[in-house]
Formats: sequence, C-alpha cells, structure tokens
Amino acid sequence: MDNPRLATVRSWRRLRDEPFGAPDLAEDLHEASKFYESTMSRQVHTARVYADSDLVGSAATGVRQMAGLPYLELPDETTNVQPCALVREPSAHRFRDRRVDTATLGRLMWLSYGQYSDTHPVGEGQHHVNRRPVASAGSLYPLELYILASGQTKRLYHYDPRRHVLEILHDDVAPQRLMVPHAATETASAVVLIMGMFQRSRFKYGLRGYRFVLMEAGAVIHQLQLAAQALGLVSRPYAGVYDDVVEEMVGCDGVDESFINAVLIGHRDG
Ligand SMILES: Cc1cc2nc3c(=O)[nH]c(=O)nc-3n(C[C@H](O)[C@H](O)[C@H](O)COP(=O)(O)O)c2cc1C
Repeated sequence: MDNPRLATVRSWRRLRDEPFGAPDLAEDLHEASKFYESTMSRQVHTARVYADSDLVGSAATGVRQMAGLPYLELPDETTNVQPCALVREPSAHRFRDRRVDTATLGRLMWLSYGQYSDTHPVGEGQHHVNRRPVASAGSLYPLELYILASGQTKRLYHYDPRRHVLEILHDDVAPQRLMVPHAATETASAVVLIMGMFQRSRFKYGLRGYRFVLMEAGAVIHQLQLAAQALGLVSRPYAGVYDDVVEEMVGCDGVDESFINAVLIGHRDG
C-alpha cells in the first residue's frame, strides 16, 4: 500500500498541475534535512564545535567583520535586556515619508538582533555565552542585518552586534533598484535586509541547519515588527526584493551569504 504521507504530497502536486515524477527541489531539500535517530550522529556535527579553538571562537562570536569601515556609534543598550510581551499590530501598507534617526535605528537593531553577555550554569560553574533577543539553534546566530536608510541619506549600513555600531557600507545607494515598487517601499524610512550566513549553522547541523537559518529569520522578522511597534514605528515584511541587487550592494556571494527577506520600517501614515 502507498505511504499515506507520500499520497498527500502527490495530491498537492496534482493541485499544482505538476507530473508525479518531476523533481521538486523544495521537497528534496526538506526530505534531506530530516532528522532520524539512526542517522543523527552523521547529520549533526557537535564535535566540530569543540574540535579546534578557531571554531570555538567563531561559534561564540560569529559576526561579519568589516573593521576597516567608518561607523556610527550607537547609544549603549547593554543594560536594557528586560523581556517584554507585545502583540504585533497589522503590517503597514504605506508610511509617512520621514527619516528615522540613528539612535532609533540602533535601538531597533538592539531589540531585534543585538548581542549581550550572559552566563548559564555548567556543572558547578558558570559558562559565559553571548545571547540575542531570538532563540538560535546552538546559539550560532547565523543572520546578518543590513539597513538601507531610505530617507534623505540613502545609506547602506551593516549592523555589527559585537560593537553595537552601524558600519557605513555605501553612501547614496538607489533604493528603487532594490525592490518591486509598492506604496510601502516608496514611503519607508528604512529597509532592514535579513541575510543568512548558512555555513555558520550548517557546519554543525548539515542540511537541517538551512532550516534553522530560515526559522531564525522568521523570528527576527517578528521581533523587528514588535520592536518597531514598541518604538512608535510601523513595519511591513517585504519579499519583493531583487536578490542579485542585494548581493551586489552588500558585497556577498549569494551562496554562503544570501538574502532571505526584508522588513520595511517607517512612520505611521495618519
Ligand atoms: C516572509 C514575508 C514576506 C512578505 N512579503 C511581502 C511582499 O513582498 N509584499 C507585500 O506587500 N507584503 C509582504 N508581506 C506582508 C504580508 O502580506 C502580510 O504580513 C500579510 O498580509 C498579513 O498581514 P499583517 O502582517 O498585516 O497581519 C510579507 C510577509 C512575510 C511574513
């Protein structure tokens, strides 16, 4: 008898008007990234994390380094790590065109993907860890956030959570090259670009790490929306972004580091 789960997959294919035998990369990836008790030790490479001191160091502090760039200092937020519960309001369809100041951008970054130091008990002692506002498989934090300030300055920044600074990647970028036009893209004050550094998770979790990166991006989207709301701003997740333009703007290869999704941020219209 047919496996009932496979039958479900096939009926979805029928709905999509696709032949049964055609390869489906998403299904293949999902299947290949499944965990099974019998194969888990081949899939998850926990030992790699402790295998060499460079990896121990980079697993604890994985952040893209652009130390040569000029940067903007952001107000210190390290004492402000109290969690608070919020209900997300609906996404904005358009914004009131206005600049968001650097301190607010810094706070938005801090509340959505900022890094702070914490300890957790190991045996009799305390182990030092870096934490962020979202949960992360293996505390590896495989995402990078970039902000395109689309107000008057039109600057592209990279957020470095270790130093809590906005590194200035480019001045005078053209946001209209980046996105499918929409009332919200025309009026947003800032575009947060969420990028995945897949190997930062995959070196340990194999293909499953790919899922973890996407899940974490979803959590960051949610956190960005809540943080924007807490700061009196409004937001909209936005997928209509051209990958090749992002890759060129941020200077990444689109494979090891690649675009996942954007979130538009701005002031409430009316
Ligand atoms: C991953 C993701 C990508 C999205 N991309 C777009 C987009 O490209 N264009 C758009 O207008 N809205 C986009 N949205 C917003 C959704 O349309 C919106 O969240 C949905 O209609 C639910 O409405 P709400 O956010 O107001 O509750 C996206 C949402 C998510 C989560």
